[in-house]
Amino acid sequence: MSKVALVTGGTRGIGAAISKALKEVGHKVAASYAGNDEAAAAFKAETGIPVYKWDVGDYDACAAGIATVEAELGPIDILVNNAGITRDGFFHKMTKDQWSAVIRTNLDSLFNMTRPVIEGMRARNFGRIIVISSINGQKGQMGQVNYSAAKAGDIGFVKALAQENANKGITVNAITPGYIGTDMVAAMPEEALKRVVAGIPVGRLGKPEEIAQMVVFLASDNGAFATGATFAVNGGQYMA
Ligand SMILES: NC(=O)c1ccc[n+]([C@@H]2O[C@H](COP(=O)([O-])OP(=O)(O)OC[C@H]3O[C@@H](n4cnc5c(N)ncnc54)[C@H](OP(=O)(O)O)[C@@H]3O)[C@@H](O)[C@H]2O)c1
Repeated sequence: MSKVALVTGGTRGIGAAISKALKEVGHKVAASYAGNDEAAAAFKAETGIPVYKWDVGDYDACAAGIATVEAELGPIDILVNNAGITRDGFFHKMTKDQWSAVIRTNLDSLFNMTRPVIEGMRARNFGRIIVISSINGQKGQMGQVNYSAAKAGDIGFVKALAQENANKGITVNAITPGYIGTDMVAAMPEEALKRVVAGIPVGRLGKPEEIAQMVVFLASDNGAFATGATFAVNGGQYMA
C-alpha cells in the first residue's frame, strides 16, 4: 500500500538509491538534503521526487521541514534517517568541531527528525523508522572515534525506541552498511580503500541499491515482525 516516506540525505549516494527504490514500489517520497543544490536539482529532474533543504542537526529546522513535507504530501509513515557525514582523524588529534559535527549530524539528527513524527505515527498506529548506521558503529574503526560513537549510538536509539512503540504498529530498525561505493567512500585515500576492499570477503564495495532493497523490505507490511534489529549488509566484512 502506498505510504508517505521521507528520506534524509535522500538526494545523493545511498539515500538517493533509497528514495528511488521506495518510489518504485509505489510510495510518495520526499528527499531532504543539506546544501548541495546542484545534486538535489539533478536528482529531482531525474526522478521527479520533491527535494527539501534543511540541516538535520537543527531541531527547529527539522520540525519546520517536516511540517512542510506533511502539508504537501501528507503525514509521514516511513522515516529513513540516512543523512550522515564523516570528519575523520585520530582521536589524539581530533578537534571539538570534528567531534561535534559528526555527533550532531549522525546522532542528534535522530532525535530532531524522529521526535516530530513519532506522536503522529502512534496516533495512526503505523510507522516505519529506519536508521542508516554503519559497520563502524559495530566494530569500531581507527580514525573514526567520533563516527563509531555516533553510529553505535544510532543502534541504541533503535533498540530503545522499538520497545516503546512495538504495540503501536511502529517498527524501528537499523541497517549497518559496510563500504558502499558513494562520494563518502570515494573521499578515502586510495591506498586505504584498497586495504578495505581486500578485507571484504565478497571482494568488492557494496552498491547503494543493495542497501535500498533492505529499506524497502523493512518499510513494507511484510517487515512488520522485524523491530529493534540491526541488519548488517557488509559483504561479510564483519559478522556481529
Ligand atoms: N558510503 C558508505 O560506505 C557508508 C557505509 C556505512 C554507512 N554509511 C552511512 O550511510 C549514510 C549515507 O551515506 P552516503 O555514503 O550515501 O553519503 P553521501 O554520498 O555523502 O550523501 C550524504 C547525504 O546526506 C546529506 N546530508 C549530509 N549532512 C546533512 C545535514 N546536516 N542535513 C541534511 N542532510 C545532510 C547530504 O546532503 P548534500 O547533498 O546537500 O550534501 C547527502 O544527500 C550516512 O549516514 C553514512 O554514514 C555509508
